[in-house]
Amino acid sequence: MATETLPTTETSPPPADWQPRIVGLLCNWCSYAGADLAGSSRIHYPASVRIVRVPCSGRIDPLYVLRAFERGADAVLVAGCHPGDCHYAEGNFYARRRMLMLNELLNFAGVPPERFWFRWVSAAEGPEFAHLIQEITEQVRPLGPYKPELADKFTVLDEIVQMLETMPAVEACPEHAPSDPGEGPNGDTVA
Ligand code: FES
Repeated sequence: MATETLPTTETSPPPADWQPRIVGLLCNWCSYAGADLAGSSRIHYPASVRIVRVPCSGRIDPLYVLRAFERGADAVLVAGCHPGDCHYAEGNFYARRRMLMLNELLNFAGVPPERFWFRWVSAAEGPEFAHLIQEITEQVRPLGPYKPELADKFTVLDEIVQMLETMPAVEACPEHAPSDPGEGPNGDTVA
């Protein structure tokens, strides 16, 4: 069955000096520590990311991502521990299930994939975190600021996300064994 995609509202190019606002939802034990390492190692990366520290990526409700967009984020990054490293054993597997679902919904709503990122970042990956922020900034900059016209679509997405979260298929993830390497919604295969 063909999936219909709503047209994107991305149009006019931004000013040359424009910097995107990236909201980073990072788990405390790995990804936030990775960002902290990037800072303490004095690795330079764009000051375009606003970090929100959460206990675990499994704690991140997809609505947090939608709210960030609604309140002016130009891109959102969700990052957690690598598979098998979650401080709470399975939280990142739950996050992966939810973010895959959210990614599909955002695609359907016409949100360019460059605006939503889901990645594993460990506490030792300070340089990788800095490189990731650089990459997001470079890919979002040509798109320009988030368009408020997307708000109507997000209202619908809000309702869909809340409905799906009540379904067992979203919460339960029996196939997620700790040895499962996993794949992020942007198509990255991670070990
Ligand atoms: Fe990092 Fe769970 S503690 S993803």
